[in-house]
Amino acid sequence: METTDLALAIVHHLLVFSLAGIIGAEFVLIRGDLPAATLKRLAGIDRHYGIIAALIIIVGIGRVFWSLKGWEFYIHNWVFWAKMAAFGVVGLLSIVPTVRFISWNRQAGANPSFAVPASELVSVNAYIRAEAFVFLLIPVFAAAMARGYGI
Ligand code: HEM
Repeated sequence: METTDLALAIVHHLLVFSLAGIIGAEFVLIRGDLPAATLKRLAGIDRHYGIIAALIIIVGIGRVFWSLKGWEFYIHNWVFWAKMAAFGVVGLLSIVPTVRFISWNRQAGANPSFAVPASELVSVNAYIRAEAFVFLLIPVFAAAMARGYGI
């Protein structure tokens, strides 16, 4: 149905832009000073990351099944699967930052003089940079698959 397709497309875009905003916020925050307040904010932002990613999966699956093109269009399209793989890689790359944010926030709560260990900061930085890079591939695949490439 056209209205369902439109509604799902709108929600999909809003969620996807929100996720991009969250990755951008983490990217910037992690480069500044990391007092307890910032660590708390990072942990909070990252929780929303998880919620939005879950909603994207639900809405994305909805788009596959209720799209005007029909689900067969996507499941036989390798660009669609490349997009799914890129999304999966972004999810995997986000695990280490998530674990660190929770741990840093907890440690900062228990110990006011807590400072993020430099080696952990370097690795979280690298994961978020890799995540942002792979995330950029997703709209590239999305635009291509929507136009029939990959069949
Ligand atoms: C489980 C995850 C996802 C699924 C199942 C999914 C599925 C879909 C489907 C079925 C479409 C419709 C394509 C068409 O019009 O034929 C679409 C479009 C789109 N998706 Fe996703 N998506 C997912 C995650 C994402 C993510 C994480 C992004 C992040 C950038 C994204 C970006 C887009 C964009 C930009 C479009 C519009 C493409 C265009 O019309 O040019 N999607 N997606």
